Amino acid sequence: MPRPFRESRDDHNKPHRPTPRDLRPDLRIFPTTLWEYPSQHYDSPAMREAQKKQRLQRGEEPRKIEIQGDAVVGSGSMQGDKDYVGATPSWVIWQLLSRYTRENDIVVDPMCGSGTTLDVCRDLKRNGVGFDLNPQRPEIQRNDSRKLPLEKDSVDFVFIDPPYSTHVEYSDDERCIGKLDSGGEDGGKAYYRAMEEVIREMHRVLKDRRYMGLYVSDSWRKKKNEKGSEFMPIGFELFSIMRKYFAPVDIISCVRHNKKLELGNWRKAAEEGNFFLRGFNYCFIMRKV
Ligand SMILES: C[S@@+](CC[C@H](N)C(=O)[O-])C[C@H]1O[C@@H](n2cnc3c(N)ncnc32)[C@H](O)[C@@H]1O
Repeated sequence: MPRPFRESRDDHNKPHRPTPRDLRPDLRIFPTTLWEYPSQHYDSPAMREAQKKQRLQRGEEPRKIEIQGDAVVGSGSMQGDKDYVGATPSWVIWQLLSRYTRENDIVVDPMCGSGTTLDVCRDLKRNGVGFDLNPQRPEIQRNDSRKLPLEKDSVDFVFIDPPYSTHVEYSDDERCIGKLDSGGEDGGKAYYRAMEEVIREMHRVLKDRRYMGLYVSDSWRKKKNEKGSEFMPIGFELFSIMRKYFAPVDIISCVRHNKKLELGNWRKAAEEGNFFLRGFNYCFIMRKV
């Protein structure tokens, strides 16, 4: 049975100081519908080599891979930007592209943020095309994902990691879907209407019989100024919208081994308030038929 990632050699009774090796996921296709991964980023040997060469050409020392906080940093060990709040775990995109695309395929990310999808495309020799209202890199085009400047049936794969309601302030742009509440007074109508426009556009640009992946989490919050709480099943709602346009291929549960969820305050609040901390994200895989 393949292991999802390299485990620590320690037994669980002893405190273990993780090494970069413990925290990096193995780059091979994961066969089950539970994708567990230890780190936001994977280590790209090709990128590491290229960066090492560049540094040597500039007369600099090769940069060592090391741990900062719970992240591994150093040459080739990062995709996208770890400081971009809401960046997608690159390993999830790597799994999707490895299964559903081939070299030179055109891969589009309509909400590309810090460019994680573009970095994975580079590693796997796919042609990545990124859009975002708040582009973090020059190669990402500023664009509202409800209208993509692409021909119908022109793309081999689409990946998207949309805002999950209003958790993150991505930009001041009024068109940002992260300003729309997936619950609240209108019951999320504006959010789901906007997301349906995005999904319809993804369907338009995708070639027949090609695949897409949508990575998302549900949401829960305490109600402000009143008693009670609100659960927003964003995953199932978006899945039912996607089913109008696409055929379902599979649903993956993605789990990051996030030590922060074990921290005293979070844990205590969840126990005392009788609510759940978000422990997984969905990755919905769909096919245009
Ligand atoms: C979860 S983040 C995506 C993160 C990205 N995959 C990465 O790894 O950095 C969601 C992104 O959606 C973008 N966004 C929100 N509304 C948008 C819209 N209408 N059109 C295009 N991008 C939008 C935000 O600016 C934000 O970068």
